Amino acid sequence: MHAQIQLVAQALARAERILVITGAGLSADSGLPTYRGLGGLYNGHTEEGLPIEAALSGPMLRRDPALCWKYLAEIGRACLGARPNAGHFALAELQRRKPGCWVLTQNVDGYHRAAGSPVQRLIEIHGELSPLFCMDCRQRSFELAEHLQRPLPPRCDRCGGVLRPPVVLFEELLPEAELGRLQTQLALGFDAVLAVGTSASFAYIVEPVLRARRGGGFTAEINPQAGELSAFVDVHLEGGAADVLPQLIRHISSDKI
Ligand code: APR
Repeated sequence: MHAQIQLVAQALARAERILVITGAGLSADSGLPTYRGLGGLYNGHTEEGLPIEAALSGPMLRRDPALCWKYLAEIGRACLGARPNAGHFALAELQRRKPGCWVLTQNVDGYHRAAGSPVQRLIEIHGELSPLFCMDCRQRSFELAEHLQRPLPPRCDRCGGVLRPPVVLFEELLPEAELGRLQTQLALGFDAVLAVGTSASFAYIVEPVLRARRGGGFTAEINPQAGELSAFVDVHLEGGAADVLPQLIRHISSDKI
C-alpha cells in the first residue's frame, strides 16, 4: 500500500490539471451513512417497502411530500450532526497547492466547502441541502436545521407550499449550470483523475475516468472495496478516504510541485 500511495503521489505531483471525484464513501469517515456498498444505508428497502430510489425521487416529493421528507430529513440530520474529516481537509490542501485541481462531488453535505475547497473549483453535481426553497412561490432562504425541528414536510411561511432543498432527487435532471461547468473542464482535459469513495453508479462519474485514460492520463481510486471503476484505474488504493488522503498529500512534498 505504501508503494502504491507513493506512485499516486508522484503522478499527482507531476500533473497540472487534476480532477478528484468524491462520493459518499469520503463522508462515511465523518460518520455519515453511504448509499450502496460497504455500510450502505439503502441496500434494502424503506419501512414502507419501497426502494430508496422511489422514496427519494422527484415524483414522490410531489405525490407524498411527507414520505419523501422522512428520508430527506434523515440525510439532513446526519449531515448537520457531523463534520468534514481529514480527507476533506487533505483535498482542500491539494487544491491550494495545485491551482489546476478541481473537485467534482456527488455529496450534498457541503463538507468540501466547509473544509476550505474553493467554490470556483468545486462542482456539486447533486446540489446541496440548504437553503430550502418553496416549490410553489420559489421563495428561498429557509434554513434546513430550523425546519428539521418542526413537523414535516416543511412549509413556506408565505404561501404554505412545500419546501425542498436544492438537491437532485432520483428521476430529476442534473443542475444545468454545474453540468456546464463540468463539461467545460472535461473538454480542457485532465492529466490525472482520482475517484474517492464512490460506487460510480452514474455514467457522468465513470466517463471522466475513462476519458482521462483514453487521453493517456493517470487514474486512481481510493475505496476499501473493489467496484465499477477498479478494473479501469491505474492504481486502486484499498483503504478508507480519511486515512489514505492525508498520507497521499504528505507524500506530495512542496518541492516536487
Ligand atoms: N473510504 C472510501 N470509500 C468508502 C469508505 C471509506 N471510508 N466507506 C465506504 N466506501 C465506498 C463504498 O465501498 C462504495 O463504493 O464508498 C462507496 C459509496 O458508494 P455509494 O453509497 O453508492 O455513494 P455514491 O457513489 O456517492 O453514490 C452516488 O447515489 O443515491 C445517490 O445521490 C446519492 O450522491 C449519491 C449517489
